Amino acid sequence: MSKTQIALIGCGKFAHGHMRSIQEQGDRTEVIAVVDIDETRAREFAATYNIPHSYGGPEALFREQHPDLVIIVSPPGDHFHHCIEALEAGSHVLCEKPLAGSLAQLDQIEATIQRTGSTCTGVLQWRYGSSGQHVKRLLDEGALGKPLVGICQTTWYREPAYYEIPWRGKWATELGGVAMTLGIHAMDFFMWLMGDWDTISATVGTLDRDIEVENVALAHVHFSNGAMASLINSAVSPHQESYIRIDCQQATVELRHLYSYRDESWTFTLPPTELRTKALKQWETMPEEKPATIGTQLASLLDALDRSEAPWPRVDDVRSTIEFLTSLYKSAFTGQPVKRGSILPGDPFYMSVNGKTELA
Ligand SMILES: NC(=O)c1ccc[n+]([C@@H]2O[C@H](COP(=O)([O-])OP(=O)(O)OC[C@H]3O[C@@H](n4cnc5c(N)ncnc54)[C@H](O)[C@@H]3O)[C@@H](O)[C@H]2O)c1
Repeated sequence: MSKTQIALIGCGKFAHGHMRSIQEQGDRTEVIAVVDIDETRAREFAATYNIPHSYGGPEALFREQHPDLVIIVSPPGDHFHHCIEALEAGSHVLCEKPLAGSLAQLDQIEATIQRTGSTCTGVLQWRYGSSGQHVKRLLDEGALGKPLVGICQTTWYREPAYYEIPWRGKWATELGGVAMTLGIHAMDFFMWLMGDWDTISATVGTLDRDIEVENVALAHVHFSNGAMASLINSAVSPHQESYIRIDCQQATVELRHLYSYRDESWTFTLPPTELRTKALKQWETMPEEKPATIGTQLASLLDALDRSEAPWPRVDDVRSTIEFLTSLYKSAFTGQPVKRGSILPGDPFYMSVNGKTELA
């Protein structure tokens, strides 16, 4: 089978993480080109990894190269345009979070996929840990009983220097604050585990930093199955932790880690009832471990492309997460609860997640 030819757009800090994840795939792939608006950085990055071509913009890349897959690691405000350019050039796309800055942009990406036949997916690597997929299976099969109460916590710390990078801290370029750029990992994963939500009430604040976007976001969520959850996102918490807890009728599952979980990051607690043995047996059927990393997601993407299938999560699935986050912001900025599915064309929150930023 021929190697998947990859081009990378954005050669900054996290591009090195993507290179590691590409290297994990062995000889299934080859990186043929990189792009950075800073041409010197692109050249140096290419030299570091022995990549044959570097460019100062996507136009030059697509004039000369035809990559099978484009991995987008540019700043969030550029993701949408880079996705459209890559799809129009006939490449498949794996784009960093957040995939786009509005539901309107996501609908445009979906329309472009339908027209071009290329595929696009967003990096949401927490869904890819084998233990996370095991928990999802147990919840979907009802092995733990109905989920009743949940907690989803992203309490991280970002010092003032973090916001000195010009695109950070601004709605137009970072597309949101702690909820959109940090809490997105835990919230996407938690909401995927919990199932359809119904209503969100939220509040956001910008505490202790000179930035436009929020660095604290709190929310209460009601789910269609009657469950309730509390969500905390903070970028001002010196004791950093990611924590998810789901109390079901027959067990509590908890996940405690920071950026990437393993099997041992989970705890499982049973109530003292006769249901104990059955639920425990199901829990103990944990599959062989695969970490919750971009490498695991990329391996699955390559498998999907080999089968000529669209990689998961598809754009409509990523859209559900961005819709949830948009609803969080809408609730916070309007002071009203927001129902799932209520942000439609004509609503300012359809055009941008905070209902007011004009996206370039
Ligand atoms: N999935 C994760 O766990 C994770 C972790 C960290 C960062 N990220 C995401 O990765 C992306 C990049 O983050 P970073 O920390 O590497 O940022 P960075 O600022 O270090 O790198 C961004 C790079 O993009 C380049 N760039 C800017 N505008 C460009 C344009 N129009 N065309 C081409 N290149 C352009 C910059 O020169 C820079 O080299 C962000 O979307 C961020 O959310 C994801």
